[in-house]
Amino acid sequence: MDAHAVTVGTPPTPPTPFSTLIRVASHEQHTQAETSPFMGDLLGGRLGVDAYTRYTQQLWFVYRALEGASEALADDPVAGPFVRRELARTPELERDLAHLCGTGWRTGLEPLPATAAYAARVEECARVWPGGYVAHHYTRYLGDLSGGQIIRDRAEKAWGFARKGDGVRFYVFEGIPNPAAFKREYRELLDAVAADDLEKQRIVDECKRAFDFNGAVFRELGERFPRSA
Ligand code: HEM
Repeated sequence: MDAHAVTVGTPPTPPTPFSTLIRVASHEQHTQAETSPFMGDLLGGRLGVDAYTRYTQQLWFVYRALEGASEALADDPVAGPFVRRELARTPELERDLAHLCGTGWRTGLEPLPATAAYAARVEECARVWPGGYVAHHYTRYLGDLSGGQIIRDRAEKAWGFARKGDGVRFYVFEGIPNPAAFKREYRELLDAVAADDLEKQRIVDECKRAFDFNGAVFRELGERFPRSA
């Protein structure tokens, strides 16, 4: 076989899609998040609804940071394509919190230190670094569309919420009837993100940081809600 034939016969390997890179790079931390003691106890039915409420309160601070920036980023070439109205969770969290805590749910509500740090980082990215915002957006929304459904199912059973009703509305995406198709489209957006290889690596690193922030929130919740059984 001559050299020319070899060249023709072995096409260059296509680069790994960015959606695969970011998923694979955060895989280990995902396993850690899934198996964190707080999540395990919560989903294992070993904690009371007060722990679930405290967790939902933390989510409110995080989504307020993510979604408070939506409008400002809607036309951004990097982050704009990801900003989708049907993902918005703040109104759902507010209905869940009104159900869990009553209409005065917001009075005196303070984030845990880890939650405050997480929300501050999301806000900072939203202000100064759209690529970083994409990392936080991916980490939360693609997770909610995936494992979030498992959490909803367990919460309904453990604390008696109506199926897809008040208390678990955060996990119900009324505007996304086909989550699998939505996730496919989302991955296509990731693959087409307006970023060079170096910026993509920085986004992957920020995604790992996003998982770390979630881990820190779980740890602080775990300290406050040690398992009861
Ligand atoms: C007990 C808790 C959790 C469970 C049971 C869980 C479960 C899952 C499952 C089954 C998938 C795969 C879905 C698919 O292939 O389409 C997934 C994906 C994902 N999860 Fe989780 N998860 C949990 C916690 C978390 C946390 C805390 C985060 C981060 C905040 C997270 C972020 C993600 C992301 C970003 C994906 C999408 C990966 C990708 O396809 O690119 N998950 N999760």
